[in-house]
Amino acid sequence: MSDIRFDGKVVIVTGAGGGLGRQHALEFARRGAQAVINDLGASVDGSGGSSAAADKVVEEIKAAGGEAIADGGSVADDAGAENLIKRAMDAYGRIDVMICNAGILRDKSFSKMEMADFAAVLNVHLWGTVKPLHHAWPIMREQKYGRVVVTTSSTGLYGNFGQANYGAAKLGLVGLMKTLAIEGERDNIKVNAISPIAATRMTENVMPPPLLEKLLPEYVSPGVVYLASEEAPTATILTAGAGVFSVAKLYETEGAWLGEGGLSAEEVRDNWARISDPAGQQAYGQGNEQIQKMIRRAMGG
Ligand code: NAI
Repeated sequence: MSDIRFDGKVVIVTGAGGGLGRQHALEFARRGAQAVINDLGASVDGSGGSSAAADKVVEEIKAAGGEAIADGGSVADDAGAENLIKRAMDAYGRIDVMICNAGILRDKSFSKMEMADFAAVLNVHLWGTVKPLHHAWPIMREQKYGRVVVTTSSTGLYGNFGQANYGAAKLGLVGLMKTLAIEGERDNIKVNAISPIAATRMTENVMPPPLLEKLLPEYVSPGVVYLASEEAPTATILTAGAGVFSVAKLYETEGAWLGEGGLSAEEVRDNWARISDPAGQQAYGQGNEQIQKMIRRAMGG
């Protein structure tokens, strides 16, 4: 099979001044992409900012013979998001790939979490994906080509103590990805999610050094590059870390039809084993498949 290349393609990576985003950007540029390196240069909790982080990655790419420009704006900001897309268009005239990767953390148990910390995390992860993407979407539709990768997390998929804000944002991104994959299909726009695990400044304090050595960001980027390639799947959640790649899915059990007359909470309790029986469970491709299952079961199918 031929190599995956991005010659003549324009790839935007948000939050690419360090960690995973930097690694993704280096890999796209190495494969011929014209890269747009966005990074606010913020600290892990989102405070501060300088375009130096993005500039440095651009220098690295150019030193290796690649092509890139820097953008030091915030993806969560209306003007910053619009300007990022405008800058990419002004420089290269098209947008083929968007890797929505920028992120921050404000961890605390829910009872201690200030609403401002909840909002800040939602703002960067969720709005910071939606806002630039909303400007890029019509361009991709017009081109009849687009590849989008949003960045989710095991916390969004499965939960983690102290990360209610982050989990809400990260599963929100999966909901966004699922619907955009459906809406983008007719225009050859494929939309996927990466759920990475990597040693970055975000995780360096929560994992011991021997483990961190197994979790280099370069073990995640090949998954992102594949999800952004011509042959990419769509509506898929790829998990990647330590050289392991897998697909995460949401399954729904076949369930139990309990009739229509006199339904009660006790009947739900008493039939719990049937309702939650994994035999025959399915991962649906669209929301309406759930309704179809209900009607089929109710009609005795
Ligand atoms: P990181 O902190 O090294 O990278 C995040 C980058 O986003 C930083 O360079 C930061 O300056 C930038 N950023 C923050 N707010 C921004 C804004 N408003 N506009 C533009 N850029 C902004 O962390 P890491 O680990 O590389 O994270 C990358 C993504 O991967 C994040 O979305 C994170 O939630 C996700 N992730 C990481 C995991 C890990 O194990 N490292 C696990 C699961 C998800």
